[in-house]
Amino acid sequence: MTDNIFYTAPHFEQDIVKAKDEYMYDSSGKEYIDFESGIWCCALGHSNDRVNQAIKDQLDKVTHLHTKLVNSVSKKAADDLLRITGIKKGKAVFLTSGSEAVEMGLKLSFAATDRKKAIMFSNSYYSALGTTGNYKNEECIIKKDFTAYDENEPESFFSGIDFSQVACCIFELGSTSGRVLFPHEKLVRELSQRVKSSGGYVISNEVTTGYGRTGKYFGFQHYDIMPDIVCMGKGIGNGYPVSAIVMTDIVASAMAGKSIGHVQSHQNDPLGGAVVSAVIKEFEERDLIRASANKGKLLSKELMTLKEKFQCIKDVRGRGMMHAVEFDQKILVADISAMMFEKGFLIGANGLYNVLRFDPCLIINEESILKMTKELEKILNQLM
Ligand SMILES: Cc1ncc(COP(=O)(O)O)c(C=O)c1O
Repeated sequence: MTDNIFYTAPHFEQDIVKAKDEYMYDSSGKEYIDFESGIWCCALGHSNDRVNQAIKDQLDKVTHLHTKLVNSVSKKAADDLLRITGIKKGKAVFLTSGSEAVEMGLKLSFAATDRKKAIMFSNSYYSALGTTGNYKNEECIIKKDFTAYDENEPESFFSGIDFSQVACCIFELGSTSGRVLFPHEKLVRELSQRVKSSGGYVISNEVTTGYGRTGKYFGFQHYDIMPDIVCMGKGIGNGYPVSAIVMTDIVASAMAGKSIGHVQSHQNDPLGGAVVSAVIKEFEERDLIRASANKGKLLSKELMTLKEKFQCIKDVRGRGMMHAVEFDQKILVADISAMMFEKGFLIGANGLYNVLRFDPCLIINEESILKMTKELEKILNQLM
């Protein structure tokens, strides 16, 4: 094969030709177990039958329309999203990537409040990596390090913030960013209250933490808050590129007569809507939120057992099917991840923080989890 693909990150050379559930196969027939769900996308596993069928059915009807046109398939998907977020009255818009959903959430909050400041945690996706960051400059973003929060001295965290200028705060409750860090409950509650009571909005970036990943539908549901805007992507399409924003009626009404200058060709496409409804149906019929919470306990127990055995493991943390293992500098996660791939396991590695990520699909067999931790133990023994 010629080397004609540009990659933005290190990659493996194997030609992956087929994938089903947690399994992937290369052209030689070798099997790999996927502990990343693609990139957090295939929460239902690869090539889900219901999602595939929904795509096939919709292909013969209408796939793409126009931002000016409406269709009942997207309306049904919007109702489904409102139901699972618990936003009783509101609106949804469908887009194509998680980055875009977060960007549009920001734009909505700026336009609806006529303000231009957003508070976000310094190690979140948007502040660190966001690919469409038009609003990265200091004029718009107030970055705060949530590890600096002291519940006995909360005022020092909030000092210097003029909340009357704040359009929104954006939370990413669990995957900050890919490191699986959880801000203090009191901080999340208090920041939300301060922003809301001064007329701003709470945005929850659920691109990675949504769709059952943390053992609840959304990461914010582990906290005592209710967002005004929820941004989603990845798992919402199970591999098909669709993302969405759900907003309350209050936000939608504040937008009446205003424009956010966001034009996008695939806004509210019926094909994306059909996928979203099929994914939610699969979640509901198979009770996958409960499955995520239960299998997450096994994953956590297995990883904690490794922590007890290996001193190089500094921390194991996670919720549901989203876990991270942080290593000291004696061992490099890039080496572990490469060796694990050779053995047939795809594991995420964040070299910057020396963290391995485990985000398997929610339908994974418990046996696959046990197989993976057994192999990881062997490799750690080899490397020590
Ligand atoms: C927390 C978070 N938000 C947003 C995104 C962007 O999603 P997408 O890759 O679909 O643009 C990512 C991507 O990894 C992410 O980790």
